[in-house]
Amino acid sequence: MVVYQVYPRSFQDSDGDGVGDLRGVAARLEHLAWLGVDALWLSPIYPSPMADGGYDVADHTAVDPRFGTLADIDALVARAHALGLKVLLDVVPCHTSIEHPWFRDHPERYVFSPVDGPPNNWRATFGGAAWSPDPHGRGWYLHSFYPEQPDLDWRHPAVAAQIGAALRFWRARGVDGFRLDALQQILKDPALRDDPVATAPFPFPLDPDYATLEHRHSSDAPDTPAALAALRAGAGADALLVGEVFLPTARVLRYLEHLDGAFCFELFFAAWEAPALAAAIGAAADGRLAWVLANHDFPRLATRVGAAHVRAAALLLLTLPGMAFVYQGDEIGQQDGPPPGDGAAGQAGAGRDRAGRDACRRPVQWDASPSGGFTTGTPWLAPLDPERRNVAAQREDPGSLLRLYRALLVARRSLRGPVTELRARDGVLSFRRGAHRVAVNTGPREHPVPRAASVVVATHGGAPEGVLEPGAAVLLAV
Ligand code: NOJ
Repeated sequence: MVVYQVYPRSFQDSDGDGVGDLRGVAARLEHLAWLGVDALWLSPIYPSPMADGGYDVADHTAVDPRFGTLADIDALVARAHALGLKVLLDVVPCHTSIEHPWFRDHPERYVFSPVDGPPNNWRATFGGAAWSPDPHGRGWYLHSFYPEQPDLDWRHPAVAAQIGAALRFWRARGVDGFRLDALQQILKDPALRDDPVATAPFPFPLDPDYATLEHRHSSDAPDTPAALAALRAGAGADALLVGEVFLPTARVLRYLEHLDGAFCFELFFAAWEAPALAAAIGAAADGRLAWVLANHDFPRLATRVGAAHVRAAALLLLTLPGMAFVYQGDEIGQQDGPPPGDGAAGQAGAGRDRAGRDACRRPVQWDASPSGGFTTGTPWLAPLDPERRNVAAQREDPGSLLRLYRALLVARRSLRGPVTELRARDGVLSFRRGAHRVAVNTGPREHPVPRAASVVVATHGGAPEGVLEPGAAVLLAV
């Protein structure tokens, strides 16, 4: 299955307020069907003060008025299903918004300090102490992320019951599954022991303050599977559940007992060099990790791997076995560019991210007009370069990145079997899948393409002549 990530604020605005919305998403679903993906994942659509772009949920069973209404999500789900697309919502079990009524009325559902002050040295993911004084005067509460996001206590039975009820609410409206946010932080050490000082760097990017500690007690608690079992029970056996577990692959595998998949961040952050890519793929050989090379939290794929490798990255992402995720705009090679300017900042719903992640959240560029076809109003974030890069132009161009994604999505349907013969040699990553072979040239030199094979999809022109250029990749039938 290939899932397309929609970040609703930046996908398509339908009412001219400069913020994307659900009617906008519904109106663009044909793009996803034409591209050939199987499902879409909507980043949070719930009522939210937007301290963290909607990952601060104030009501789990409603739609934020900026995004629309329950009738709009019902219509979106119906239209998606008519087009053969499944719909996944984002569920944020680790915390709520500080403005969620539960925080005011049910403090027992949250993690409070047993002393009058921080009980330990834990740091928050975006920096600063993980404990803040409660505005309602009930002591100090834990927040693994921003202070506006108090952590739920998954050892309190009401939490599983309430979140489970929310999952059932959405399933009853036709939603097919969920992407589960920040699962590594859902449960922490019940004794609240100090985290030790980090002695080795964490393998993925972290806030420098957060990175000073090894998160041995503030995350990844031994009883985490109990919370995952409760999420599975709420969602139903037939729901698709994909976990965001921000840990190295070896530590993610135990999360899979109750999930259908979890993101493979090792490949996401691997240097674009054959040995690093091979190591990340080899470590995830279990087959239930979901491949993902970009999302709304980190610099975009084209910005990270560079324009020279963006076609090869698409081919690799879409020829590996198992689930793959494509972040909106990556199919046309959208880039981050300089930090976004003001846009419509200050208007309702235009909350800027304090952790500096807005550069990868600029609107999708649908056409060459100044707003990129995203809005008739002033966009909450300005698009970067719609005149140079847009969906409409790339649809017409057989050599475009967009058309390559589409060709890969067709070709991948005939790929079978696990990765075998995984190798990294002279800058070339290669592997076999049944009757197919994949080669990705990450290095600076040309390499030969095996003559006996027939080219199914190639990123560059040399493959039929037997040449794999620098930055090229090829899918072969052998
Ligand atoms: C991961 C989400 O992708 C990110 O956007 C968010 O800030 C954190 N989880 C906290 O919910």
